[in-house]
This record gives sequence, C-alpha cells and structure tokens, in this order.
Amino acid sequence: MALSTERLGLYNPEKPMENRITDLGPRHFWQYFPPIIRNNYGKWTHHEILEPGILVHFSETGDKVFTVRCGGCRFMTVEHVREICDIADKYCEGHMRFTTRNNIEFLVDSSDKLEALKKDLMSRKHVSGSYKFPIGGTGAGLTNIVHTQGYIHCHTPATDASSMVKAVMDDLFDYFQGMTLPAQVRVSMACCLNMCGAVHCSDIALLGYHRKPPIVDAEVLESVCEIPLVIAACPTGAISPAKTESGKKAVKIKEERCMFCGNCYTMCMALPLSDKEGDGVTILAGGKISNRISPPKFSKVVVPFLPNNFPRYPEVCETVKQIIEAYASDAKKYERVGDWAERIGWEKFFEKTNIPFTEHLIDDYRLQYDTYRTSTQFKYTEAAWEVSRAAGGIED
Ligand code: HEM
Ligand code: HEM
Ligand code: HEM
Ligand code: SF4
Ligand code: SF4
Repeated sequence: MALSTERLGLYNPEKPMENRITDLGPRHFWQYFPPIIRNNYGKWTHHEILEPGILVHFSETGDKVFTVRCGGCRFMTVEHVREICDIADKYCEGHMRFTTRNNIEFLVDSSDKLEALKKDLMSRKHVSGSYKFPIGGTGAGLTNIVHTQGYIHCHTPATDASSMVKAVMDDLFDYFQGMTLPAQVRVSMACCLNMCGAVHCSDIALLGYHRKPPIVDAEVLESVCEIPLVIAACPTGAISPAKTESGKKAVKIKEERCMFCGNCYTMCMALPLSDKEGDGVTILAGGKISNRISPPKFSKVVVPFLPNNFPRYPEVCETVKQIIEAYASDAKKYERVGDWAERIGWEKFFEKTNIPFTEHLIDDYRLQYDTYRTSTQFKYTEAAWEVSRAAGGIED
C-alpha cells in the first residue's frame, strides 16, 4: 500500500504534514518468500553443504531447495542491485536474499537450475577483473567481512572500511572459496572504536585507532557544543571546564589521561582528533558469538598499531594472514580462533603467530586486574624470556 506509485508526487513542501504516511514498519517477509520456502516453512529436516558456497535443504514434504551464496561488496550501486535482480529473474522467479554478513543468496529448486546459475554467476566480472558474484562463504572457511562506513561517509573514522576490506578479502580469497579451516573464521572491521558492527566479538577484527588527543577549538566550542555532555563523554575523566582569555566557555584536556577514543568529538565538533600519521589500525582476535561448546567471547587486542598504508594496507593483510595460517595449521577441528588461543595459552598464541607482545596489550582500564595472570601456570616462550630479562629477572 504505502509504496504504491500512485502516491508519488504528492509531497508539498508548503504543507509537509499533508498526505504524510508514517509508522508503517518494514514489509512483511512472507511477501518475498520463494514459493518453495513458503510451502516448507517450519518443515525442514536437515541440510548439507554440497561444495563451498552451495547448500541444499531437505523438507519433510520431500522438497529440496538449493542455495548459492556469493560474496557481496555491501556498498553497492543501484546498477549492481539491478544486475542481482536480473539474475534472480532469470533463475529464481525473481527471488533472492541477503545474509547477515551481506552475502547474496540465490535459491533454486532443482540441480539443473543450480548448474546453470553457478556457471552464470562465475562468468560475471567487473571490467577491472574482479568477480561480481564469487561463490563461497559456507562451512569452515572465511566468509564476508562485516564492516562500516570509513571515509566513504562517517565523520569519526580513524581508517577506511571498504578499501581495507577489499585488500584483506583479495588476500584471503582462497579461504572464501574453500572450507579448509578448523572452523569458520569471522573477520570484521570497524573504522573507530564505536565498533559499529562485530569487531568486539569476531575471530579476527580490524579496528581504526587514533594516537593523538583532540585539538580544542576554543573559539567556537561554546557555541556548538553542550559542555556537560563533552565532559561526561570521557571514559577517563580527562576533560574539565575551562575559560579562554576572552572569557569564552571551553574545555581543557589533560593529555596524559587521554587515550584517544574520540568520544568527545562525537559529542562536540570542536574537538577533532583524526590525524594522518597518528591514525592507524589495531588488530583483535579470539572473539565469537555462538554458544557452541564454549560460551561467547570478546576479541582481545593482539596488535596495538599498524599504519594506515593506503590503498592496500600490506601490514594489515600480512598480520591477518599470519594469524589465520598459524591457526589453520595448529588448531583442532571445530576450534574457533579464541578456543585455540585459550587452549594453548595466549603466550603460545603470540609465539605461534609470530606477533610481538607489547605493553599496549596489558589492560589498564578499571577491571584490568581480572585479565592479569594470578597463577604460576604458564609456558616458557622466547617472548616471556625477553620480558623477564628486561625486568631484570632470572637468566635462561
Ligand atoms: C523515519 C525515518 C527513519 C526510520 C524509521 C529509519 C529506520 C532505520 C532502521 C530501522 C534502520 C536499521 C537499523 C539496524 O540495522 O539496526 C536504519 C538504518 C539506516 N538508516 Fe534509517 N531510518 C530513518 C531515516 C533515516 C535517514 C533520514 C537517514 C539518513 C539521512 C537514514 C540513514 C540510515 C542508514 C545509513 C542506515 C544504515 C543502513 C545499513 O548500513 O544497514 N535513516 N534506519
Ligand atoms: C530520507 C532520507 C535518507 C535515507 C532514508 C537515507 C538512507 C540511506 C541508506 C540506508 C544508505 C545505505 C547505507 C549503507 O548501506 O551503508 C544511505 C547511503 C548514503 N546516503 Fe543516505 N539517506 C537519506 C538521505 C541522505 C542525504 C540527505 C544525504 C546527504 C546529504 C545522504 C547521503 C548518503 C550517502 C553519501 C550514502 C552512501 C555512503 C554510505 O553508504 O556510507 N543520504 N542512505
Ligand atoms: C547515510 C546517512 C548518514 C549516516 C550513515 C550517518 C552516520 C552518522 C554516525 C554513525 C554518527 C554518529 C552517531 C553517534 O555516535 O551517536 C552521526 C552523527 C552525526 N551526523 Fe550523520 N550520518 C548520515 C547522514 C548525515 C547527514 C545527511 C548529516 C547532515 C547533513 C549528518 C550530520 C551528523 C551530525 C551533525 C552528527 C553528530 C550528531 C551528534 O551530536 O550525535 N549526518 N552520523
Ligand atoms: S565505526 Fe566509527 S567511524 Fe566507523 S562508521 Fe561507526 S561510528 Fe563511524
Ligand atoms: S579522546 Fe576520549 S579519552 Fe581523550 S579526551 Fe576525548 S573522550 Fe577523553
């Protein structure tokens, strides 16, 4: 009803509330189900992954539905969406769906249609050579990277989202098209520590990070910001009220207390902090959301800083690969990255991934005590010996 074209052109800026339609909510999903999904809703008995990217679900009615999953770039043009629609029209009676990781799924009801669809999808490329619809993302492999806006649209980022995701996915493309890992690996990305998305709960996470305190634009601050909000925004209490020489209300920031979170800038545009050399990427590992075997886990910081080396981020790609390769060769079947790291001990994680441990990784925020080792259980590693030597401990 609401989306009917009959209503187009009725908007009158003189009377904005006239003909206004509101609070309709989303369309009901039932409208968009392929008939085979509608007929077998709630009746599925089991499923199989036929090959990377291809699933088949069986119903108690005897029906079968094949799903082809392909990578999507998430940030896409209407032209690209129209191409998705053309494919859906050609093979799937106009139906398709997007997944929670922004992959694209096409559903068909016979293996003949499946083969034709697969061939068509893999033949479509951008003029520059990239696959438009690479098939994969199922099972114990690597699927799409959940990511954010970056320099394309947000004003608080410390790095870019789309370009980093493209660089990392290019590097790990074989894992997207394969199912050769001990368990599925979720990589996610956020361009500042607002962490829009899933970085705090992913196997591997890429996070935009600042290293310099905000600049206080005291001339305009009082006219554009609610000062109490600014003060309350700071997690470390680094901000206090101040006055300029000319008597304007402003704030001052105790720089040694600031950890560059950028929260005060979110509240107050007179406190910008992005910086070409300062900003970069932090890498976290070991998070998960599912309750399978072990409970959900937060990801932990394992690399404090890598440079924003646009446009291909070689250091970030290299580190992600180091983690995935060490995990792939060492973890047991069904173990997620976090399960593996906890079983072998984080000191061994650093040794096996060849990532240096630095003081930045030691928690110093409020509940930090629980993250220290209150035990004599640990394994000797070269890195541990180095810390011991640096602290004047025993010689090996
Ligand atoms: C009555 C007005 C609006 C309603 C009810 C509405 C509702 C929503 C909802 C429910 C979501 C999904 C949130 C989620 O994923 O959890 C969303 C996402 C979003 N909205 Fe709105 N919105 C409105 C207006 C706007 C306006 C005016 C803008 C931009 C100027 C906007 C930009 C966005 C963007 C960029 C997203 C994120 C899409 C994504 O990446 O998933 N929205 N909105
Ligand atoms: C009713 C008004 C609007 C709605 C509901 C709306 C909603 C959205 C949504 C949902 C997206 C996709 C975001 C994503 O998937 O990542 C988007 C993208 C975008 N919108 Fe709007 N928008 C509105 C008005 C505007 C206005 C007024 C501007 C600029 C002044 C704008 C600028 C953009 C830009 C640049 C993008 C692409 C960048 C990106 O995806 O991050 N939009 N919008
Ligand atoms: C696609 C549309 C847009 C997206 C996805 C988007 C995204 C965001 C995000 C993520 C924030 C931070 C919110 C928070 O941390 O609480 C924000 C805040 C803000 N955005 Fe946008 N934005 C969109 C459109 C616009 C447009 C069109 C304008 C102005 C023309 C605008 C002006 C602002 C301002 C002034 C704030 C700060 C408000 C505050 O004090 O929290 N945004 N936006
Ligand atoms: S993570 Fe931060 S910078 Fe990125 S889109 Fe979200 S708020 Fe913006
Ligand atoms: S950037 Fe974060 S820590 Fe620094 S002053 Fe602003 S709110 Fe406080």
